[in-house]
Amino acid sequence: MTMEDARDFEPFDDEFVVPPTHRLPPPPSAITSAEREATEVLDAVVAAAAAGEYDELPPPADPAQWPTAALPEVAPTFLPAAPPMAAPINPPSSTGGGEPPDVVLDAASAAAIGLAGLHARNISAWFGDHLVLDRVSLDMPAGQITALIGPSGCGKSTFLRILNRMHELVPSATMAGEVLLDGDDIYDRRHRLVDARKHIGMVFQKPNPFPAMSIYDNVLAGLKLTGLKAGRDQRDELVETSLIRAGLWKEVRDRLRQPGGGLSGGQQQRLCIARSLAVQPRVLLMDEPCSALDPTSTRVIEETMLELRHQVTIVIVTHNMQQAQRVSQQCAFFLAAQGQPGVIVEHGDTEAMFGQPQDERTFDYVNGRFG
Ligand SMILES: Nc1ncnc2c1ncn2[C@@H]1O[C@H](COP(=O)(O)OP(=O)(O)O)[C@@H](O)[C@H]1O
Ligand SMILES: [Mg+2]
Repeated sequence: MTMEDARDFEPFDDEFVVPPTHRLPPPPSAITSAEREATEVLDAVVAAAAAGEYDELPPPADPAQWPTAALPEVAPTFLPAAPPMAAPINPPSSTGGGEPPDVVLDAASAAAIGLAGLHARNISAWFGDHLVLDRVSLDMPAGQITALIGPSGCGKSTFLRILNRMHELVPSATMAGEVLLDGDDIYDRRHRLVDARKHIGMVFQKPNPFPAMSIYDNVLAGLKLTGLKAGRDQRDELVETSLIRAGLWKEVRDRLRQPGGGLSGGQQQRLCIARSLAVQPRVLLMDEPCSALDPTSTRVIEETMLELRHQVTIVIVTHNMQQAQRVSQQCAFFLAAQGQPGVIVEHGDTEAMFGQPQDERTFDYVNGRFG
């Protein structure tokens, strides 16, 4: 069966296990070995961090030495080129800025300053034969923060990883559905894996800078994805801008050549945010970015997010209900009943989700009665 057939396939309403032949596999033709390699710089760190192998990583090469020649020529990109970043609406909080104004951009204003919305359509996901997400659809509006909430194991991380094509690199993982960035499906086989990563950045639960690499080089580490060859001045400027946007500049400006591993946990997480921002993504995904941090570092990251939200569309997974209320404008409640795949029970404006939830299960969850 062709990919188009797989896309058109409507899963059986009353079946959770969809026959394997109906799944949409990762489009193999779309992933060249060079692209796969190009995505590995960040993935390898993530895997090493997860396995506790931080210090066994060889010191990465100077980014200037990276084999950018191995990168595929990115054809006139399938996605509208990211416009120059909108100027931050507020000064970074670390410079003493006040409360961000509670302005939610409407779709027209968001589009006018080049922000992209992300729209997931009928996303299903499997690990082997195990269906873990069943036809989940969600609009994540441009210029807003969307929080994904719900108990452990209901598929939030899987959903997030599908939003930037990380899921398909897990052996045995398959998925179906569409993810539209600015209306264009990132899984369309005309598109490259590396483009999805470039436009849609990810920050993980455990801060994962290259510990032996300098702060400066850490910020530039993701540039391998873009194949951008920047001169010294451009690199300096990109490092500074990215660190300012991540709310870390003031703390590290005098020690850019020191190793990233020497920073505190909260600073490391902001360094990872800076690394993502340096690639100029249109969307930033964050999987429980504060759950390993103390309350003060958490507050700084939340302020950073609120400042970033008019520059980049943000999707965050959080188990912290107060955090979801503080930072997000949109909220989606995921739930997986015993032995069943995850679904979105309810989604909408965060205020309404917490104030007047429509579903009893949402009410119970946001009020801490389970999960
Ligand atoms: N790499 C994997 N291999 C097999 N099963 C997985 C893998 N990752 C997650 N799962 C399963 O998928 C389901 C959803 O997991 P996950 O997306 O991590 O949930 P959440 O982030 O909401 O806690 C769980 O049942 C989990 O055990
Ligand atoms: Mg998770």
